[in-house]
Amino acid sequence: MEKALQNLIERLERERSLSEAEYARLIADRRPEAASLLAEKAVAARNRIYGSAVFIRGLIEISNFCKNDCLYCGIRRSNRDCVRYRLTEEEIAACAREGYALGFRTFVLQGGEDGYYTDERLCSIVARLKREHPDCAVTLSMGERERDSYQRLFDAGADRYLLRHETADREHYSRLHPPEMSFDHRMACLRDLREIGYQVGCGFMVGSPYQTPETLAKDLKFIERFKPDMCGIGPFVPHHGTPFKDMPAGTAELTCYLLSIIRLIHPPVLLPATTALGTVDPAGREKGISAGANVVMPNLSPVAVRKQYELYDNKLCTGEESAQCRDCLDARVRSVGCTLVIARGDIKQEL
Ligand code: 5AD
Ligand code: FES
Repeated sequence: MEKALQNLIERLERERSLSEAEYARLIADRRPEAASLLAEKAVAARNRIYGSAVFIRGLIEISNFCKNDCLYCGIRRSNRDCVRYRLTEEEIAACAREGYALGFRTFVLQGGEDGYYTDERLCSIVARLKREHPDCAVTLSMGERERDSYQRLFDAGADRYLLRHETADREHYSRLHPPEMSFDHRMACLRDLREIGYQVGCGFMVGSPYQTPETLAKDLKFIERFKPDMCGIGPFVPHHGTPFKDMPAGTAELTCYLLSIIRLIHPPVLLPATTALGTVDPAGREKGISAGANVVMPNLSPVAVRKQYELYDNKLCTGEESAQCRDCLDARVRSVGCTLVIARGDIKQEL
């Protein structure tokens, strides 16, 4: 391998930091030997903190109504072909009960920005899940809300919040979103969540339209500074009902490369091998774990609505029962030398 690239990787491992220009070079000049070296170092860093444990999160997709119009997303409000649904509190509680029996100790409630889920309704759901499963963590992934709303949900018992920043480059952000959505507001939400006391997840799509090594370098620099507890990255996959329908999908190769880099920047981070990664490559999730990921998020939503929560085309697991997804992931995780564990899977500080 080129000596310069190897030096960058060794310095990244040592200092957990590179300049933006260096991150951009590490990405633009990448080659397979660099990817293997990064993966080897990332897996060592992960194993030092977490051993061979991979955590599972039960994903419950509670609503596909959304007031936003992100250009990449299949449930954007302008997509008239999207058949909308939302789950009742009863249905959500039933998904969680099934998940608990299958060994899930974290429930992730994800949905579009749906005005139906007022603070009152959402707090009631969160409080109920925490009451019925006191040994479980509840994670919310419900988009941008007021600070006061985040506070009330936290007080109701929510432990974690996922809000991908989508891109840390302002100009790039404006090309992925309609004018009424603001980069500054997104970043303000992430800071509010952190201040309130949530374990916070940010993240972005890999290979999103107009992304460059330079915008990715900004994402990495943001992660270096923000030190998220979780970081969700997965390839962009075009959805036929969006303005980006003809844009190329991101690759598993670059996603795995970035997973390794993020692990080295912030070794304790909880990093999922995402469903989108499994969608662009049948062995994508295994490759993600072998690149340093340590979380998988099988679907716990009722099978009847799974197909409707369609952020992108060809999403996996829309026909599988929750137990099938759990078993499928269990086998995949084992095939790469790791073990699914029954645990909340909170972030672990380094010793
Ligand atoms: N391809 C991949 N990921 C997508 N998301 C939304 N649309 C797509 C797509 N077409 C991601 C966004 C969002 C998360 C819930 O799903 O990053 O934050
Ligand atoms: Fe759902 Fe593999 S994770 S079937």
